[in-house]
Formats: sequence, C-alpha cells, structure tokens
Amino acid sequence: MVSRMISFGLEGIEAFPVAVEVDLNSGLPAFEIVGLGDAAVKESKERVRSAMQNNGFQFPARRITVNLAPADIKKAGPVFDLAILLGLLCCSGNLHRLPPKIAFIGELSLFGEIRPVKGVLPMVLKAREMGLSAIFIPKANAKEVCYIDRIAIFPVASVKEILKILKDEVEAIPLQPIPFQAEAQEEFEVDYADVKGQFIPRRAMEIAAAGGHNLAMSGPPGSGKSMLAKRLPTILPPMTFEEALDCTKVFSVAGKLEGEIRRVRPFRSPHHTSTYVALCGGGAHLTPGELSLAHNGVLFLDELPEFMPQVLDSLRAPLEDNEITIARANGSVTYPCNVMLICAMNPCKCGYLGHPTKKCTCSPGQVQRYRRRVSGPLLDRIDLHVEVPAVSYDELSTKAAGEPSAEIRKRVIAARERQLARYRDESINKNADLTSPMVKKYCPLSPEAERFLKESFDQMDLSARGYYRTLKVARTIADLEGSEQIEFAHVAEALRYRGLDEK
Ligand SMILES: Nc1ncnc2c1ncn2[C@@H]1O[C@H](COP(=O)(O)OP(=O)(O)O)[C@@H](O)[C@H]1O
Ligand SMILES: [Mg+2]
Ligand SMILES: [Zn+2]
Repeated sequence: MVSRMISFGLEGIEAFPVAVEVDLNSGLPAFEIVGLGDAAVKESKERVRSAMQNNGFQFPARRITVNLAPADIKKAGPVFDLAILLGLLCCSGNLHRLPPKIAFIGELSLFGEIRPVKGVLPMVLKAREMGLSAIFIPKANAKEVCYIDRIAIFPVASVKEILKILKDEVEAIPLQPIPFQAEAQEEFEVDYADVKGQFIPRRAMEIAAAGGHNLAMSGPPGSGKSMLAKRLPTILPPMTFEEALDCTKVFSVAGKLEGEIRRVRPFRSPHHTSTYVALCGGGAHLTPGELSLAHNGVLFLDELPEFMPQVLDSLRAPLEDNEITIARANGSVTYPCNVMLICAMNPCKCGYLGHPTKKCTCSPGQVQRYRRRVSGPLLDRIDLHVEVPAVSYDELSTKAAGEPSAEIRKRVIAARERQLARYRDESINKNADLTSPMVKKYCPLSPEAERFLKESFDQMDLSARGYYRTLKVARTIADLEGSEQIEFAHVAEALRYRGLDEK
C-alpha cells in the first residue's frame, strides 16, 4: 500500500512542494524516513507513532518507508508530521483515499495536538500558486494567513479535529479572508514632538524616510541620536500589500511572527556585540538575521564603531544587492534585505571631539583608530551624513514641542507617492534605489542647479560617487517639495549631507 500527500519545505523565504510518500510493506517491522531530512524530520517517527496510538489507532507492525520528494533538497523541521501521519492512516486502511490537490502542514505532539510551524505564509502562497484547492494548517498559525484569498485554508488544532473533517463527520468551514487595508496612522509610543531643537538632523530624517536613504549620525553622547533614530518608524510611509507580505514571510520563516501580517515597517536595532550569524543569518537552524528581519524597514546600528569590523564589512555587499546569500554545506540560501540603514556614532572614543564646552581626552592616534573601525566602503553606502550637536540648555528647557510625527509623515507619504508614480515602469520604488543610468534619466536639473553643482564639484573636489549621491538626495528633496525638476535650493541642501570622508 502506498499513499502520497502534499506538504511543503522552505528555501530562503519561499516554500517548495514536498510529496510525502508512505509505503507499507510486508517485512520485519521498521520505520524509515528518507529524502534528506534533518534531525527534526527523523524524530517525526516518534511523534507520529505516539500521536497515532494516543488517538486510538494501532501502529502498523509492518515495514514502513516514508520518502520526502524531491529527494535531493534538504528538508528541515517537524512540518511534515501531519502529512506522514495521514499517509500512514491511509495506507493502513484507517482513512479513505483523500482527494488530490489538498496539502497538509503541521507538527504533532505525542497526544496528537497540531502545533504551529515556521513559514506557514509562504507555504500557503505556494499552495495557491500551484492551484491546490485546500490546505490544512495549524490553528495557531491562522492569523498570519487571514488575508489570503483564492484558496481554502482550514486551521486545525488536533488529529481528532482533522479526522472528523476528512471523514465528513463535521462540516469544515475555511477561513474567511479579510481584505487588507494599508494601516491608518499606527499608534506609536514615541513621537518626533519629543525631540527639541536638532532641526537639521530632524530634516535629514524626513529626507531619509521620504527617499528610503541610508543615514549616518555623528555627535557627542546625549545629543539625541538614539532618540532621533527610534522615532523613524513614526514617519515612514505605509507598506504596500506586497511589501507587507514579504516582510511577514521573513518573520514567519524565522518563527518570529506574532499574530497576523505585519503592517508596520520593522525597526531592528541589534546590539553591537552581535555576531555575523545574528546579523546576516545562517546558523545550525538556518534562520534569517537582523538584516533580513529589517527587510522593507529600518536596520539601526547604534554605536557603529563598536561593532566588530568583520561583521560590518560583511554588510556591504548585501546592502548593495538588497539580498544576502548564505553559503551552506550543500548549496546556499538567499534572504531579502532591502533596508534603510541608520547608523549612529560618537565623533571619537570619549565622545567629545569638537564639543563646544567639554574637552576631548583622546589622542590623535586614538581618534584615528576609532574612525578606522568603520570601513570606508560601508560609509560609502550611506547617502546622508549628519552631525547631531549637543543640545543647549535653552533648547532643552523650551516648552515648545517639536513638530509632531503625523505632520512630517504626511509630507513623506506625498513624496513617496510621487516616486511610486515615476518609477512604476522600473524595478525600483524609491530614490535610494536609483542606479547611475536612472539618475541621469530621472534627475533633471534646472540650468541654475546644474551650474551650481558643477561649481561645487570643482571647488570641493567631489568624487563620482559623491555626484550620484548628491543627485539622489536632491531628487528626494525636490519630491518633498512637489517639484519634478531639481532646483538650485535642492542641490544646495543635498550638498549639506555630504560624507565627512568625501572631499
Ligand atoms: N534634542 C533633544 N530633545 C529632548 N530630549 C533630548 C534631546 N537630546 C537628548 N535628549 C534626552 O537625552 C537622552 C539621551 O539621548 P540619546 O538619544 O540617548 O543620546 P545619544 O544617543 O546621542 O547618546 C534622551 O533620552 C532624552 O531624554
Ligand atoms: Mg545613543
Ligand atoms: Zn575624544
């Protein structure tokens, strides 16, 4: 007796179909799972055996072979438990043949409860893409797929429950998909109204949010760098459904999804002691790192020079490619990472270099060593560099609140909508992702702006990369003003956010 069930495995943030074939043979009692499964897949045997017996079935005293096809792709985790159990029940005559085009995913407890698994969203999306008619998923994962239509999704909590449905003893009701609505203003605990003074850094944050630019802040301790960064999510434009799905897939695959689809762009701030695996992903139980968890959102690296230089170095290529490839024993896996990188650093080890009142205690050598910890090529990826000076007593003690996030966000959204319209035929949707040929095409300068940019170049001896960076930022400044052409004032402001390293 042979049966075949459809289930799913994960590769990166995408799912691939796995045929779970179960064969019952005469021969000495044995239970074998083949098809490149990891330890959790192998241990499936014990869970399936107990779940079967504890639900009143006799475990077949036959030679059982389970094959997970395709046999040449690695499979991980306990997600195949449910399909294996149902296949065994079919083969042993405890369950009639099931109609085709139904998939099953879920881990089993020894008692036969169906436990949540990682990656349910990509699996359900794959099932729909394959034209399957239905998929059974663990009840605890139901929220993450509540927006998915065009496939019947049945959340189930136990073997008893699913058997009742499959035997037509109860009427099964699939999930009713909820229409996705881009978030209205989310509730945040923080607001830019809390930040006093710091007009230039606040403006830089607005530009970064509008164009999706990477930004680096430098300034003495206590000047409000961390404060400014933590408020960034309050002014970011809402995610499109596609962006929200991709972001949710990463969290789902990492097993870090709480509740339903993610609507707010992620804000990840890994500690500076983070390892390569924590930041970039990988590890024994292959999982996306902070960089990918920040996909379509913000990666905030506070105290940038304190990070391990090799770890920072490894961020360069992924920041350029918007995806990260992790080499594995056999093959490799790729996770997306289109992030806004926000960095904060002190100007020197003690933090007070250039401070108006406090004295820096670092030697010139120490200052140099501190700066060198951050590699030039990483700073190269950053469009906006801004100094965050110490706030004066007068500024701090003023009663006047700063401009609230909701107001700033309106301008950011308007500017982002202009970009979405402009790039609708391109593969990008924001100014930060403009390639050099696109810069030429989409950044028309007024004659005055052009002349000014040329003069500045000659005077400041700017590099080619400085040129493109200035234009991209000027493009966003013009978008914030609703101007299709880049004017003199936009270029002038963009030049203000030049890197310290650029001459
Ligand atoms: N511009 C500011 N407006 C209001 N409070 C500020 C400002 N700058 C700093 N503070 C206060 O000082 C604290 C420390 O700021 P923080 O953002 O941690 O500084 P940094 O990261 O630059 O060392 C904040 O939590 C806040 O209470
Ligand atoms: Mg700080
Ligand atoms: Zn110092």
